[in-house]
This record gives sequence, structure tokens and C-alpha cells, in this order.
Amino acid sequence: MGKDVIVACDFPGREKLEAFLDRLGAEKPYVKIGMELFYAEGPEIVRLLKSRGCRVFLDLKLHDIPNTVKRAMAVLADLGADMVNVHAAGTRAMMEAALEGLSAGSGPRPLLLAVTQLTSTDQTALETELLIREPMERVVEKYAKNARAAGLDGVVCSPLEAAAVHAACGRGFLTVTPGVRFPEGDAGDQKRVMSPLKAREAGSDYIVVGRPITAAPDPAAAYARCIREFVG
Ligand code: C5P
Repeated sequence: MGKDVIVACDFPGREKLEAFLDRLGAEKPYVKIGMELFYAEGPEIVRLLKSRGCRVFLDLKLHDIPNTVKRAMAVLADLGADMVNVHAAGTRAMMEAALEGLSAGSGPRPLLLAVTQLTSTDQTALETELLIREPMERVVEKYAKNARAAGLDGVVCSPLEAAAVHAACGRGFLTVTPGVRFPEGDAGDQKRVMSPLKAREAGSDYIVVGRPITAAPDPAAAYARCIREFVG
């Protein structure tokens, strides 16, 4: 499985996205778009990125009853995204339904990932609000195993958890890891960060990098550096 850098394009609209891509010159990066851009621009934004030669991770984190998720995934399957995701908390039945819906598309099936626990959820919230009394690491590992059992391709997790997920679910089970910063960079609101080089050593399959590239004075140089350090 080839490693790659996914650029988190957290822009409010199509114009800013296109201006950013123009600054990357001939590069056609793997791009992650989330709810903000998708809700603002609609499915057309995926087609636009595909027409520019980019691969697309559509980060919508579906979480609903199995039948609803299955039907939504069947629609997403034909947009041409290369990677989509759900919340593992929707249960194994929901993840199996998601996979079934996604497999109904006419083209190649996009990769399907599960979000284990959001990194914004800490141990206190887990215990006092969600009434999950296990340690976070154990919850992440169990949710990853559920995703694997449902036939999913991998999980979104911290690079700090990549090795444990691979140990529990196998080396071929993908770990897609945000929370990446250059060693000398500003961590911003990310708390637990790793450099592209360290994420590579930790066994991440894909790193998701946003502001260290999108807010860099020279985004093309920052992207090239991520590729050099993570992919080699
Ligand atoms: O700008 P930055 O590199 O922090 O962007 C990271 C991206 O990864 C953002 O789009 C963020 O929403 C996403 N993400 C994350 N942590 C998670 C899941 C997704 O930072 N656990």
C-alpha cells in the first residue's frame, strides 16, 4: 500500500480552494474536503476536484441508522470520491450497511474508513457524558476491530495510535492520521502532534495535513516537504 499525503482543504468555498490549488502548480494532491465545503458547494465540488486530476477524501463522517447510511453511501459512491468515512460508533451493522451501499456504485468502490473516537473527545467526556468507562486506547482499539470485522478498509486515528491499530487489525488495515506538524511549526489547536517523518516511522499509511500546507507562505514548498519526509 503506497503512502501518500492528503491535504485538508478547509476552505469556505470553491474560489479559495481553486486559488490554493493554482498555487501548487502542476501538483495534483490528494485532497480532503469536509462538511463545510461540501455543504456550501454541493456534490459539484467533488466533480471539480476530480476534473482537476485530484484524488478526493470526502470527510462527511456519516452516523445514522443502517438503512439511511446505506442509501446515502449509494449516492456518494457515484460522485467519484476515492475515500469516504463513517463513525464507528454507529455500530458494526451500520458500517456493514455503509459498505453495502458504497459497493452499489457503478465505478470502483471508494475506500471506506471509520472514525474511532474524535480527538476532541477526552477521557473525562468519554466517562461522564458517554458513560464509556474504558481507557481511550482500549476504546479506539475495539472500534478499529469492529470496523475491520465489518469489512472496512481502515480508520482515521492519531499517528500515536497507528502502531496499536496495525497490531490489532493487521498491517493492511489503513491508518489515516491527522495532527501533523513540522517540528518547528505552530501546533495551533492540535494537541498531540507528530512530524511527517515521525508519522512515517509510526507506520501511518496516509497523513492528513491542513494548515502547515494551506497557510504556509509557500504552499508548494510545504507540500513538497511533506511528500519528501513522509513518502520519501
Ligand atoms: O490544519 P490541520 O492540519 O490541523 O487539519 C487537520 C484536518 O484533519 C482538519 O480537517 C481536521 O478537521 C481533521 N481531523 C483532525 N483530527 C481528527 C479527525 C480529523 O484534525 N481526529
